[in-house]
Amino acid sequence: MAEPMTIRTVAPSDPRVGELLRAAFPTDEEAKLVSAVAVDAPALVDGLSIGAFEGECLLGYVLFTRVWVGPGSAQALSLAPLGVHPEAQGRGIGRLLVLDGLRRARNLGECAVIVLGYPEYYTRFGFEPVGVLGIEAPWPDVPAEAWLGLDLDPGALGRMNGVVQYAAAFNEVV
Ligand SMILES: CC(C)(COP(=O)(O)OP(=O)(O)OC[C@H]1O[C@@H](n2cnc3c(N)ncnc32)[C@H](O)[C@@H]1OP(=O)(O)O)[C@@H](O)C(=O)NCCC(=O)NCCS
Repeated sequence: MAEPMTIRTVAPSDPRVGELLRAAFPTDEEAKLVSAVAVDAPALVDGLSIGAFEGECLLGYVLFTRVWVGPGSAQALSLAPLGVHPEAQGRGIGRLLVLDGLRRARNLGECAVIVLGYPEYYTRFGFEPVGVLGIEAPWPDVPAEAWLGLDLDPGALGRMNGVVQYAAAFNEVV
């Protein structure tokens, strides 16, 4: 009988995280990113490195890291990476991870989340384009429809503008 699924925090340095990300993504860039962020204290937010487990087997993973927006360095979160093992995709695990992460972030008093990702996927959770608010990606040629944000505190993103600063490791991947 399959073991029940549990969603719980997991250290970004846990070797299972790297293995899972290497299986979920076509290259090892995301695994390398998480290894680098794991030792970047200002980027890490306690409780927002989250795994979906069947028993001790990691089937999905999501990481939320600190970002700083604009000249005032307003604090927000980045959602990246999100990955589900290819053999476990389409079972709602990605959805559970995103929803759990958003709930935890809200409970921590975080005000907003930014993601660069599939518009069709993230708009399901209420993410909307943020370029129109004057929130800019730090990389060139980011498609407007994939540059998204979600308010945890209503109106938070509307009070921010400028370039989003990510942990240094992100600039080597995107
Ligand atoms: C994207 C990903 C995290 C989704 O996780 P998942 O557990 O398979 O997704 P869920 O079961 O929660 O949701 C499935 C739905 O997402 C949709 N979906 C999956 N990948 C998608 C994509 N690239 N673009 C748009 N929708 C997508 C599916 O079509 C499915 O739609 P349905 O509910 O209408 O059938 C997973 O497919 C994955 O790890 N992909 C490879 C890594 C990756 O690209 N991650 C980046 C995310 S920006």
